[in-house]
Amino acid sequence: MLNQKFQTTAVIGSQWGDEGKGKVTDYFAQDADIIVRWSGGNNAGHTIVFDQKKFKLSVIPSGIFNQKVTCVIANGCVINLEKLIEEINYLKENGYNCNNLKISDRAHIIFPYHLALDESEEKIKKEQAIGTTKKGIGPCYSDKINRVGIRIGDLLEQEQFMKKLIANVAVKNQILTKIYHYEKTFNAEEIAERIFKHLLPQFKQYITDTRVLLYENLQLEKKILFEGAQGTLLDLDHGTYPFVTSSHPIASSIAVGTGLPLKAVTNIVGITKAYNTRVGAGVFPTEFEDEIAKKIREVGNEYGTVSKRPRRIGWFDAVIAKYSAEINGLTGLAITLLDVLTGVKELKVCTSYVLNGQEINYVPSQINNFNLCQAKYITLPGWKEDITKVTSFEQLPINAKKYLAKISELVGVPITMFSVGPNRKQTIIVKNMKE
Ligand code: GDP
Ligand code: IMO
Ligand code: MG
Repeated sequence: MLNQKFQTTAVIGSQWGDEGKGKVTDYFAQDADIIVRWSGGNNAGHTIVFDQKKFKLSVIPSGIFNQKVTCVIANGCVINLEKLIEEINYLKENGYNCNNLKISDRAHIIFPYHLALDESEEKIKKEQAIGTTKKGIGPCYSDKINRVGIRIGDLLEQEQFMKKLIANVAVKNQILTKIYHYEKTFNAEEIAERIFKHLLPQFKQYITDTRVLLYENLQLEKKILFEGAQGTLLDLDHGTYPFVTSSHPIASSIAVGTGLPLKAVTNIVGITKAYNTRVGAGVFPTEFEDEIAKKIREVGNEYGTVSKRPRRIGWFDAVIAKYSAEINGLTGLAITLLDVLTGVKELKVCTSYVLNGQEINYVPSQINNFNLCQAKYITLPGWKEDITKVTSFEQLPINAKKYLAKISELVGVPITMFSVGPNRKQTIIVKNMKE
C-alpha cells in the first residue's frame, strides 16, 4: 500500500489556458523523476525557453528536456498519431531522444475524421462557434464517452482494431457527407495502412500500462510532476460551458486521467498570468481592447503558440482566480508574465461582478448570466522599472510587490513563484512575501 511520504506537484492552468504551464513544468522538471500529461491533446501549445533555445510542444510533456525524467502521456489524453511522430522527430532533430517516453495503452486516438468533424461542427454553428483549435479534440472525446473510441492499446490487436475502425469510419462518413455536406469521405484501410506501416513502428516501444508505472513510482516516493493542459475556465463541467474544451484540466481529474488515487497529488500550483488572456470565443468579463491591450499583446507575445491566433487581453480577474483556487484546491500560485505589465501606469484588478444590479463574487453557471456580468475593479499603481533580471521577491519595485500581495490576498492563496520572462532562468521562487 501507499504511505503518505511522497511529494508530488500538479501544474494547473487557473485561467483560460496559456498561463505558462510549459515554462513552469520545464522549471520543475529539473528536479523531478516523472512528468505526466493526463488530459487534453494537441490543442495544447506549451512553450519552453532555455539556453537561447525555444521549443513548442503540444503532445509530449514539457519535461522531456531533462533526459533523466520519464515522460508519461497518460490515459486521460487523446493522441493524434501524426502529431506525436512529428513531435518525437522534432525533438530528436534537436538532440533530445524520446527513449524516456511512455504512452498509455488506454489513451484514445484522434483520427482524421475527428478533425473533419471538428471543422464541420464549428462551421455549422456559425456565430455560435466555439473557436476550437480544430484538432479533433471534441469529436475524439465524444467517441470516448460514447464508448466507440479507439485506444492506443487497440493498435496491438490489429484485427480488433480494423473492425472498430471500419465501423467508425462508416458512421462518420455518413454524418460528414449527409449532415455536414463534407466534400470527402474517409477510408479505413488507408488510415490503417498509414498507421501500421509508418506511424506505429515509431512509437510502439513506448506503449505501456502507465497506471502501473505511476503507482509503482509513487510507492517508491519518486517525484512526480503532473503537467496540466488548458485551464480551469475551459473545464468541461466547471468552465464557461459551452465555450470550453472537452476534457477536465482541473486538478481533481488527475486521478481519473492517470488511474492514481486522489491522495496522489500533494502540491497544486495554479499557473496564473499577471493579467488574463483567452483564445477562442466565450465570455471574458475583464476583456479590453485599447492601446494598453495592444502593448500587452505585443510585449507578452500573446499569439497562439500553435495556431498563432491573437489572444484576447483582459485585466486580472480575481473572481475567476479565486474560483480556480477553490476548484483545484490550489496550494500555491505561480504568477507568470509579470514583466509584461511593466510600464502600465494603472493596473486594474477585478474584485467582483455586477449582475442585474447586484454585486456578486462567484462565477455564474449559466453563460447568459455570465455574459451580463460587468467587472468591478480596484486600481493599483504600476511600475516602470525593468524587472526581467530580478532574482528575488525583495528586488521587485514596491508597486510590483504590492500588486502580487493584493492578488494573493484576493485569491486567498500564497504566491510561491513568479516569472519575469520566458526563459527558464527568469523564474523566481517566493519563500516569504515581505514588502
Ligand atoms: P502554456 O500553454 O500554459 O504552456 O503557455 P503558452 O506557452 O501557450 O503561452 C505562454 C507564453 O508566455 C509563451 O510564449 C511563453 O514563452 C511566455 N512566457 C511564460 N512566462 C513568461 C513570463 O514570465 N514573461 C514573459 N514575457 N513571457 C512568458
Ligand atoms: P494550453 O495547454 C488556450 C480553447 C480553444 C477553444 C476551446 C475549445 O496551451 O493552455 P478545443 O480545440 O479544445 O475543442 O477548443 O478551448 N483551448 C485553449 N486555449 N490554451 C489551450 O491549451 C487551449 N486548448 C484549448 O481556443 O476556445
Ligand atoms: Mg498554450
